[in-house]
Amino acid sequence: MEAGDVIALGAESLLVRHDWLGLLAVYKIRLPKPYRHPSLDERLRRLRTRREARALIRLPEMGVPTPTLYEVDLDLSLLITEYIPGRTLKQATESSFDPDHYRKLGKLVGRMHEHGFVHYDLTTSNILVSGDDLYIIDLGLSEDSDDPEDHAVDLRVFERCLESSHPEVKEEAWRAFLRGYREEREEATDTVLRALEDLKSRVRYI
Ligand SMILES: Nc1ncnc2c1ncn2[C@@H]1O[C@H](COP(=O)(O)OP(=O)(O)O)[C@@H](O)[C@H]1O
Ligand SMILES: [Mg+2]
Repeated sequence: MEAGDVIALGAESLLVRHDWLGLLAVYKIRLPKPYRHPSLDERLRRLRTRREARALIRLPEMGVPTPTLYEVDLDLSLLITEYIPGRTLKQATESSFDPDHYRKLGKLVGRMHEHGFVHYDLTTSNILVSGDDLYIIDLGLSEDSDDPEDHAVDLRVFERCLESSHPEVKEEAWRAFLRGYREEREEATDTVLRALEDLKSRVRYI
């Protein structure tokens, strides 16, 4: 792949690999949505860019790896970050499932929750695997929260991702994830798991 290549074009954003001060970087631009009211659209893109930039600073302080933030331009809804060579956890799992990735991820998510931070879009496409290291990305919906019910939302989104994208390894991946999560926050895990069961039964009966 040459610098300047498009890495991803999603519904929300365009990601391009390109040089930044001689470093290999990723430019993530949140694109306007034509069907949204322009001023609302601009506010939403700005808010998500701000949330993501803030998380890219906060998470590494907690010991949770993310690509390094190089630059942010809220007016352009642009983030420039370190390029991480590797693949997503989704791709890694599809080619050869490694439960250790899931235990490691559980630890990182546990650590993030322990520091009062929620991702809100925790899927295997939003985790990068590079060698033995995992990186958490796509943090535009993330927020501060110490509430176990909010932590349970992260777990529910992740569990659903396993059910829909990785059904054949779901049980083992989930067990490994929870093992890592518990290692990181023995005290709070049962409370969060209770909140998760509550959440699931509420959703079932609405
Ligand atoms: N820093 C990075 N280094 C390498 N690849 C990345 C990086 N950031 C994102 N990607 C790739 O681009 C994809 C989309 O990025 P993401 O931030 O999740 O945007 P979206 O909001 O469009 O899902 C990821 O799934 C991953 O494959
Ligand atoms: Mg994503």
